Formats: sequence, C-alpha cells, structure tokens
Amino acid sequence: MGRIIAVANQKGGVGKTTTSVNLAACLAEKGFKILAVDMDPQGHLTIGFGINKDELEYTIHDVMLDEINVGQALLIDVFPGLNLLPANKFLAGAEVEFIGKQDTQFILKNILSKIKNRYDYVIIDCPPALGMLTINSMTAADTVLVPIQCEFFALDGLSQLIHTIELIQQKLNKNLKLEGVVFTMYDSRTNLSLQVVENVKDNLNQNVYKTIIPRNVRLAEAPSHGMPIITYDSKSTGAESYRLLADEVIANTNF
Ligand SMILES: Nc1ncnc2c1ncn2[C@@H]1O[C@H](COP(=O)(O)OP(=O)(O)OP(=O)(O)O)[C@@H](O)[C@H]1O
Ligand SMILES: [Mg+2]
Repeated sequence: MGRIIAVANQKGGVGKTTTSVNLAACLAEKGFKILAVDMDPQGHLTIGFGINKDELEYTIHDVMLDEINVGQALLIDVFPGLNLLPANKFLAGAEVEFIGKQDTQFILKNILSKIKNRYDYVIIDCPPALGMLTINSMTAADTVLVPIQCEFFALDGLSQLIHTIELIQQKLNKNLKLEGVVFTMYDSRTNLSLQVVENVKDNLNQNVYKTIIPRNVRLAEAPSHGMPIITYDSKSTGAESYRLLADEVIANTNF
C-alpha cells in the first residue's frame, strides 16, 4: 500500500524539487518501489531525472484531462526502481481547463488510486502556489512534507500553508497529516541559518526532521546533468543528508 507524500510550500525556490528528486531516489536506492509525480508546469522534477520535458509524448496533464490511460504517461525506471509521471508547460493550462468540471480537486487522487498499490512511496512535487494543482496533490496525499529554506523570510507564509493543510483536512481529505518540515540550504558558516532553525522550531508545533539539508553546490549542479545527487556525487554531503532524510521518512512510516 503506497504512502503518498506531497512535497509542498507555496514559497518559490525553497527546495521542493531538490527534496522530491533526491528523497525519491534515496528511497528507491534502499529498495522501495517509488512513483515520482511532477505536478509543477515548470517540469523541474522531470528534468531532474534526465527527461527532456519538451519531447514528451504524454504527461500527467493528458491523464488529468482523461485523454489517456495513466500507464501511457508513465516513464518506467527513470532511476532503478523509480517510475515517473512527468509534466511540462501544458500543465499550466489545467487551472483554466477544469473550470466548470465537477470534483476537480479529486482528479489526481482518482488517478493515483488506480496505481498506488504498486508502490511503497509516491512522491509528489508541488508547484510554488496554493492553487488547483497543489490542492489536487494534498487531496491525493497521505502526508505533506514541507521544505523550509534557512533564510530570513522562512516563517513568512508558513501559517498560510498550515491553514491550507487544515482546510483540506476539513473539506477534502480528513486523513491528511503533516509529514514534517525539513530545513534546506543550511549554511553552517552563518548565524542566520541557525537562528532560522531555532525560530521555526519555537513557532511551529509540528514534526521537524532531525536531518538538515546543507547548502551543497553538488545538489545545485545535479539537475543540469539530469541525475539525482546519489548518482551525480554519491559521497557528497548532499547525498549523505538526503539518505538520512529517507531513513527518517521510513522510520515514520507505518506500513
Ligand atoms: N541544499 C541545496 N544546496 C544548494 N543548492 C540548492 C539546495 N537545494 C536547492 N538548491 C538550489 O536552489 C534552487 C531552488 O531549489 P528547488 O528548485 O529545489 O526549489 P523549489 O522549491 O522546487 O522551487 P520552485 O518553487 O520554483 O518549484 C535550485 O537552483 C536548486 O538547485
Ligand atoms: Mg520546484
């Protein structure tokens, strides 16, 4: 029975995609069957696994429009043990295309319900917004994982995100839980990173992962080579920290 984790934060550039790619790859490396789902029209998760997003025959968008079967869009073994539902710019149209349709919040949930049992984990990379694509992701998910960048505005918008999660719990998905928050781009040379971590911990009564992802240039380079960090530089601090995060996620899972 697959556990569906939506990686979400409406703030841009906080490490959602880096966390999605690398958590998914690290879980696969540990022998779990993984489905990664790109729900961002930017298609960065798709690129992160080395797929040319502009040459795709089918994407998650076609499946959501009900034009093809989910199996037709699935890319098999983009990393050993890991399948991908890719996205590209066409997903940006979804918000408008679904106006007037019924139950549009449940489209992704219905798609994943057909295939989630084939996987141990389904990791969904959300776009930097709280619109229809993120609502679909959270409605389909068991838990939400929130990356928080260690910078001054980290807390800004966090209460809105928590409020959105609560609304979805009340109206669309009563079983949704907060998987936890993970700090990203931690810079041990500055006091600011440390202060942000302390500040968020004080203000947030939620599960915070012990693993903190450091700022690591290898993590930033890996997507341009279309590789998860454990392929690009298996011994880097970025690789080691995402492996530790995967261990924590596994420890939190009640299969
Ligand atoms: N730990 C890290 N160390 C160094 N660079 C990082 C790290 N995490 C992310 N980056 C870089 O920071 C940028 C933003 O990261 P990422 O794309 O993962 O954020 P995002 O939240 O998915 O962004 P968006 O909101 O646009 O989807 C990218 O260039 C990425 O390579
Ligand atoms: Mg992203």
